[in-house]
Amino acid sequence: MPTLTITGKTRVYGTLAHPIDHIRVPSVMNPLYEQHGIDAVMVPIHVLPEDLEDAVRGMRATRNLGGLCVTVPHKVTIAALCDEVGAGGRRVGAVNAVRFDPADADGRRRMIGDNFDGQGYVAGMKAGGFDFAGKHVLQLGAGGAGMAIAFAVAEAGAASLSIANRTVARAEDLAHRVHKAFPGCITRGIEADADPAGYDVVINTTSLGLHAGDPLPVDVDRLDPATVVSEIIMIPEETALLKAARARGHSVHYGRPMLEEQIKLIAAFIGCPFPG
Ligand code: ATR
Repeated sequence: MPTLTITGKTRVYGTLAHPIDHIRVPSVMNPLYEQHGIDAVMVPIHVLPEDLEDAVRGMRATRNLGGLCVTVPHKVTIAALCDEVGAGGRRVGAVNAVRFDPADADGRRRMIGDNFDGQGYVAGMKAGGFDFAGKHVLQLGAGGAGMAIAFAVAEAGAASLSIANRTVARAEDLAHRVHKAFPGCITRGIEADADPAGYDVVINTTSLGLHAGDPLPVDVDRLDPATVVSEIIMIPEETALLKAARARGHSVHYGRPMLEEQIKLIAAFIGCPFPG
């Protein structure tokens, strides 16, 4: 197995998190760099929330640090420290990628953030052969990930988007914001147990399914047989929802492609090479 040789020319990227032990991006990227002979390294960067501002000042001053993947709990706080935030980040008020641009005339490096949760999800579905254009969509959940996905689904040309959530007011607020940004998509916020029939696709963005014994986020017996069922939870790979949907003959989409596509989008944004 080739070994990674780090020199003064090596491009450095980071994955910012707290806690840091569970971080997987470096273990995905570094073997690819070795394999493809790319002179870059992705390092885990462990920063406590109370130190973020100091850490950002230091990272901005670190000239060979090209950019960051940003994870929990820094996504919201780092957005406020960026010089500029792209549309995906502004919509959800959180960023999961940060790029340090070359220094401007006064020697300061601009820090640009964006969020690729929504685009990553839509790209993952596209990779799996699903196109949202003209579709009637039922989204379950209106939390952080749901917010990003709702905008991206509308942007991808969905004809309608119904957002069902335990806290209906949150769904209504999100539906209103999405419609304002994409008036071509008919949106509404509805009760979590509203009738799930009549949709082309159902997306679970709630956290129901993360833990064994969670109730299903939707009653699969009430879905039309042709409804596609999509999940953003990655672990477990097959949630109870996907298992039940598959048993009833629905076409299903797993959560992993969202992460895979998102890594590609983030890599492109921060200028980090992504082989393959
Ligand atoms: P994330 O950032 O992963 O999206 P989040 O912002 O906490 O996490 O959002 C979790 C989503 O799952 C929300 O839509 C939440 O519903 P509420 O807005 O009513 O809180 C939903 N959710 C979480 N636990 C739930 C439960 N036990 N039953 C139904 N919905 C639940």
